[in-house]
Amino acid sequence: MQQILRGTVALVTGASSGIGAATATALAAQGAAVALAARRRDRLDTLAAEIKDQGGSALVLECDVTDQQQAAAAVDRTVTELGRLDTLINNAGVMLLGPAAGAPLDEWQQMVELNVLGLLYCAHAAVPHLLRAAADEPRQVADMVNISSVAGRAARNGNGVYALTKFGVGAFSESLRQELARQYVRVSLVEPGATATELASHNRPEVLAAIRNQFGQRMAAGDIADAITYIVTRPRHVAVNEMLIRPTEQER
Ligand SMILES: NC(=O)c1ccc[n+]([C@@H]2O[C@H](COP(=O)([O-])OP(=O)(O)OC[C@H]3O[C@@H](n4cnc5c(N)ncnc54)[C@H](OP(=O)(O)O)[C@@H]3O)[C@@H](O)[C@H]2O)c1
Repeated sequence: MQQILRGTVALVTGASSGIGAATATALAAQGAAVALAARRRDRLDTLAAEIKDQGGSALVLECDVTDQQQAAAAVDRTVTELGRLDTLINNAGVMLLGPAAGAPLDEWQQMVELNVLGLLYCAHAAVPHLLRAAADEPRQVADMVNISSVAGRAARNGNGVYALTKFGVGAFSESLRQELARQYVRVSLVEPGATATELASHNRPEVLAAIRNQFGQRMAAGDIADAITYIVTRPRHVAVNEMLIRPTEQER
């Protein structure tokens, strides 16, 4: 099989579980050397070992991307140790649901710090390297894929601050897409529906009990990884700007 991403380097944030882990594996299978960023080092070590067992190349970056210096250092280490940066998958995120009235403020802060600021810190540090990669062989194009959500398109009762963060990701992505388009850095937005990962498990027990029946059919993390892989393996003249993906039975 031809490996379309051979000779390129991808950084995946939130690579220790769910969509990020599946995406890192999928990009490595396409020949990209992958930098794996998240806080849980043991998970990253296990994933890196799996990728290496399959003939791939992986770098473990234990970091908290809500800390601007750690986010910038993750990008710097990727470039220093793997040589370049062609693809940033801005995936790390948290979803804490429930009524706004009486919500713990630290949950709101956590979502804004990770889903918005963490994504921005990584984007800011990565853009100069993506511009360099886009001007260079082997592909002369670079990619930033920002992971939003169905909640980035429609706010619902009980997801206000999560939706706020994902609407923001959509706005930033579209603006940056326009800014970088002529330099062949493609900025894409992926908006998954319900996907079986650890995401919901971080909610308070009372919220978990309330939302348990909301989620019917769910996709697998690999389904979203497929979509991301499709986006970053398009030929240079094709940019998939936005992709909304739901499980077939999910109505809204
Ligand atoms: N699952 C869904 O139904 C769904 C639907 C729509 C959108 N999404 C979006 O998809 C993205 C991935 O979520 P997921 O579903 O795969 O959930 P997940 O399994 O909970 O993965 C979240 C990832 O983010 C990482 N992370 C959390 N805090 C971090 C921090 N401060 N610094 C660095 N990494 C951090 C976690 O690793 P550590 O804990 O090891 O740091 C983990 O690897 C999120 O942006 C989410 O909003 C998911």
